[in-house]
Amino acid sequence: MTDPRIENLAQLARAGTPIVMVTAYDIVSARVAEAAGVDIVLVGDSAANVVLGYQSTREVSVDELITLARAARRGVKTPLLVCDLPFGTYEDSDEQAVATSRRFVREVGCEAVKIEGGGEIAQRARAVVAAGIPVMGHVGLLPQHLEPGAAARAQGRGVDEALDIARSALELEAAGCFSIVFEAVPAAVADAIVATLTVPTIGIGAGANTAGQVLVFHDLLGLSSGRHARFAKRYAELFEPMVAAVRQFAADVRARRYPAAEHTYPVDADQLAAILARLHGPR
Ligand code: KIV
Repeated sequence: MTDPRIENLAQLARAGTPIVMVTAYDIVSARVAEAAGVDIVLVGDSAANVVLGYQSTREVSVDELITLARAARRGVKTPLLVCDLPFGTYEDSDEQAVATSRRFVREVGCEAVKIEGGGEIAQRARAVVAAGIPVMGHVGLLPQHLEPGAAARAQGRGVDEALDIARSALELEAAGCFSIVFEAVPAAVADAIVATLTVPTIGIGAGANTAGQVLVFHDLLGLSSGRHARFAKRYAELFEPMVAAVRQFAADVRARRYPAAEHTYPVDADQLAAILARLHGPR
């Protein structure tokens, strides 16, 4: 039986109601996503960069992502929970793709998995879908294909690349993916490809006409410092306020302003006298 939330995505897309997806990797981000009422939460392998501090999404392991996803699962009750399959854990064979997907479903309790790319990967998606696990596809910029430290650039600006993306998307749809992410594709190219598909599409840097939009939690909240992608609109700038708060804590501790009386626990005078007598003897 198809998860009603997956059916709901298709209904939202048909009705022209934009689908909202955000990433989460721990209990805090999951609770925020839950409270904000998003439709889909993705435990993205972007965790490699924004949580674990790796150079590349290629570096995160299944065990690491499962630990993060289990934390997110504890906070995500209403949205559909989707987990990325890490690089090197699904590409080699259908058996490998199904085994890794099953680990995520069993150990995390997620409702679906996401994989990157078309061609052979569409066949992996078909096998995972046949094993009863819903799959989200991902085309355009594929971070798992980038060399560590390589700059991300928009995909599909030329004819060959655009047709490649279109082919991959059609293959993933034919393989039974319930939705496809389009990352860093010029809006006009994404529009032309999306028009050939029936499954709901989720854009990140792919213009306004995909069925939904996704952003990385740390990007949208401004939790990360340094350079960020053109499409990563920041709805808050929380990095500097966090630094300022910790800096203030450090200053208060050093100046003995913290803790103050209101931050300490009182004790009954009689009890304290008895405690002191036992510790130090009668005075
Ligand atoms: O890993 C991730 O966060 C993603 C989104 C950018 C779609 O794949």
